[in-house]
Parts: sequence; C-alpha cells; structure tokens
Amino acid sequence: MGALKEIPSYIEHHRLALKLKPILVGELYLARKLKFPVFIFRNGIFYPVISEGTFPTKDIITTLIRNSYREVYLYPEDISEIKANLENALIKITRSLSVGDPLENGTKDLKLLSLNLAGVYQNPHNDDLLMLQFQSSQNLSKFLIENKKFLPYYYHSLTKENFHFTLSQPMLSSLMLLSFLNTIHAFHEKELENLFMASYLKDIGMSLIPDEKYDQKVLNERDKQLFSNHADYSFDLLEGRIPLSKNYLTIIKHHHFLNDKLLLLLGKEQKKLQDKDTVLGIESTLVAVFDIVVAMTSPRPYRKSQSLYQALEIIKRMMADDYPQEFRALVVFLKQFFKI
Ligand SMILES: [Fe+2]
Repeated sequence: MGALKEIPSYIEHHRLALKLKPILVGELYLARKLKFPVFIFRNGIFYPVISEGTFPTKDIITTLIRNSYREVYLYPEDISEIKANLENALIKITRSLSVGDPLENGTKDLKLLSLNLAGVYQNPHNDDLLMLQFQSSQNLSKFLIENKKFLPYYYHSLTKENFHFTLSQPMLSSLMLLSFLNTIHAFHEKELENLFMASYLKDIGMSLIPDEKYDQKVLNERDKQLFSNHADYSFDLLEGRIPLSKNYLTIIKHHHFLNDKLLLLLGKEQKKLQDKDTVLGIESTLVAVFDIVVAMTSPRPYRKSQSLYQALEIIKRMMADDYPQEFRALVVFLKQFFKI
C-alpha cells in the first residue's frame, strides 16, 4: 500500500467516527460499485484506501489482508448492499452446490459461509442470520459427506483465505473432524451431519467476547473467565433456535472439557468436571480433539503455530487412556492429512 492519505479536518474525522461501521476485509469481495470511500482505522485515525465510485479490486483486498488489516470501515449504505450480496450469494451457492465443479463450489461455499459467520458474530440474536447459517452449513455437510475425498483440499483452501482465526477455526476443525469420522466408519450419515453441525456451531458464543480481546497475549482474570464461558454462551444462544437435538447441544456446551481434564491431570485445576457421564462420550471427545489440533497447528496473532507432534503429545494425555484405539487411528489419520 502506498502512503496513507490523512483526513484533513478534525470535524470531518469526528463525523466519520459516528457514521462508519466495520466489515471484514474479505467481505469487500461482495461489493459492487461503492457509493462512498472505504477506510482503514489505525492509531485512532481513519485513512481512505478505496475511492467512492470504484470497485474494490482483488489486488487491493489482498494487499489489505497481507498488511494485517482485519476490518475496513464503510458507510452504512455500502455495508447494507454488501451484506445483501453476501446473503444472496450464499443462498445461490447453497441451492446449486451439486451443480458443476465440486472443488470450485465447495471452496466458494466455505468462503461465503465463513464471511456470513462474521455477521452472526456481530448480530448473534438475529434469527434470520442464524437460520441462514444453519441451513447453509447443514446443506454443506451433506455435500461434504458426498465429496469426502476432497475434504483435505477444502481444508487447505480455506486456510489460504487468511481469515481471522475466530472465523476459520470452526469450519477448519469441522472439516477435519468429518474427514476423520469418514475413515473410522463408526457413525451413520445423519450422525456425521449432526456432529459436523455441532462442531461448526460450537463457538457461536465467542460473539459475546469483544473483538479486541482475541489478539491479546495476556488476559486478566475477568477476560479469562469470559473466554472460558464461551461454550456455555454458545449453548444458551443456540438452544431453542436451531433444530439440533439436546445431545448435540450438550456436546457444544462441553466442547472444552478435554482442556479441563488436562488441567486436572496436570494438577493445575481442582475443579470437578460437570455432567461427566453425558460428556465423556467418544463424540464429545472427537469434537474437542479436532478443535485442539486445529488451534495448536494454526498461528495466532500472539504465537506461532505448533507442530503436529506437539499437538499429538497433548492429545495423547487427554484421550489415549480412555480411547486407545481411536487415538491410534487419529495419529495415522493426521499424518496422512498433513502429508507427514
Ligand atoms: Fe471453543
């Protein structure tokens, strides 16, 4: 990006602060001709980066992402149009997913769904948005089961989008989970679909955490509590609003139980596991395991990615005693998935 142009007047800047709203940089792909300029916000100042009356080009969007801009700021009129275009594009691809090239369609759907998930995070109480997410991802799960051989391809293509981890992590962990479940042949198709959905929707409760907390390396006790409650928030946000049975909502509610178990094993936590009998099933374990594998092997703003071996060391301690056979299958699967 060239030199940034500052907004000249203080009053003008103040007016912008009241008017502009953020969207994800990736959502600019859904923009047509812009009525107003697009801004970035840095050190308390708005800088225009795309002019009014133009289209955001792929080059500009890629440059913004490479420069670590997660959000851009737009006038509400342009945002409404982009959000409507995104919803329409998602509905269109959902309806025609099986028509044409499965690699292209699947990749496009994953990208649009992840961008739409950002909207759900911004408006977690909006029923229409949540239903669109649910129906589209459920439809996608059927498509992914039919096209299971492409799951590693879809996974790697989504990692290349450079979405913020809060948006990519749910889909990445669910793609990997589904890929593994296909190899062990222990579940019916409907169970695969529901486990995929539970895994994908498990972090919706993160929407109640303020954006700036995600990239902080050190959190105070209150923030730690906020993060550790997100699984409960997910359950509360979803219960009664989506057609997913209690079993799967319970998996969502306890999707971090392995982390608690590890803390107990390490003697760092005295807390007793709640609802132990309902939680410690193989389904809950696998949903939790793939969340951990993806989180550990992906970079975060405050740390580098860790190796698969480091992730497996941790997971071994969490599940190998209870599920030795599944753990062995997991090691074989992950080495193949990451081509090691
Ligand atoms: Fe989570």
